[in-house]
Amino acid sequence: MTDVIDGNAVAAEIREGVAGCVDVLAGEGVYPGLATVLMSDDPASETYVSMKQRDCEEVGIDGIHVEVDSDAPASELYGTIDGLNDDDAVSGVLVQLPLPDHVDEREVVRRIDPAKDVDAFHPENVGRLVAGDSRFKPCTPHGIQRLLAAAAVDPEGKEAVVVGRSDIVGKPIANLLFGRGEGGNATTTVCHSRTADLAEHTRRADVVVAAAGVPEFITGDMLTAGTVVVDVGINRVERDGESTLVGDVEYDSAAEKASAITPVPGGVGPMTRAMLLYNTVKAAGLEAGVDVPLP
Ligand code: GUN
Repeated sequence: MTDVIDGNAVAAEIREGVAGCVDVLAGEGVYPGLATVLMSDDPASETYVSMKQRDCEEVGIDGIHVEVDSDAPASELYGTIDGLNDDDAVSGVLVQLPLPDHVDEREVVRRIDPAKDVDAFHPENVGRLVAGDSRFKPCTPHGIQRLLAAAAVDPEGKEAVVVGRSDIVGKPIANLLFGRGEGGNATTTVCHSRTADLAEHTRRADVVVAAAGVPEFITGDMLTAGTVVVDVGINRVERDGESTLVGDVEYDSAAEKASAITPVPGGVGPMTRAMLLYNTVKAAGLEAGVDVPLP
């Protein structure tokens, strides 16, 4: 039997725990706030940001949403970020990526106060993660760790293969999987577009994390029976004349081999959103010196 890991259910538990943290903070007169900044006309980005705002409302985090015209100079975005950095009502700042071509994403990420960087994209937070001393874990990799734990999969001593080397997912999840501590201690390989024989690696994996950004790239014949498969991909494709979402894993053939697998949608996606709320109450607690019962 293949265990289909229910990201919606695990995320709901995290959100409940976050709501408890909000109550504890309120008892100390602290009201966490998450600022989302959108500088894009991309409908998908607009949807993601509005979902994050809805999530905030559900758990009692104050949502602050700022839009910057996609044609505006980068300086306008910098000014917005500076204002949010200085605003005591804002615990966390998230600038939705991607940004327009004329804006340097690296500069933007460096502009965010590291103590409010709930994405954990700032070089200071990346460095802390790599050093094994994280302040915030990035949301998608942290969510993956929690999904594995919920499925009673302990990576310790196992062969983990990460497919994709992005700054947002591939690099940080590899660090968490091979790092010390709970949810880590795996022997970890990172594969990417220049890997000579991808299937050779995925076939010897106990855990495969697919984060290549290529629809249905990992197929069942690339897996050994019993592998745990985590699908990070969210790809919109046309199928039989209809638009549909698929992951980076060909679900049906992979599920035949996997002992556990995350679906798309309903796997990693909801966890990313839940861990953003987690980081926001963590940021608020750290800033105020209040111990929050993080879930
Ligand atoms: N765009 C796609 N995923 C993310 C994310 O996790 N954070 C931000 N800020 N932008 C994104």
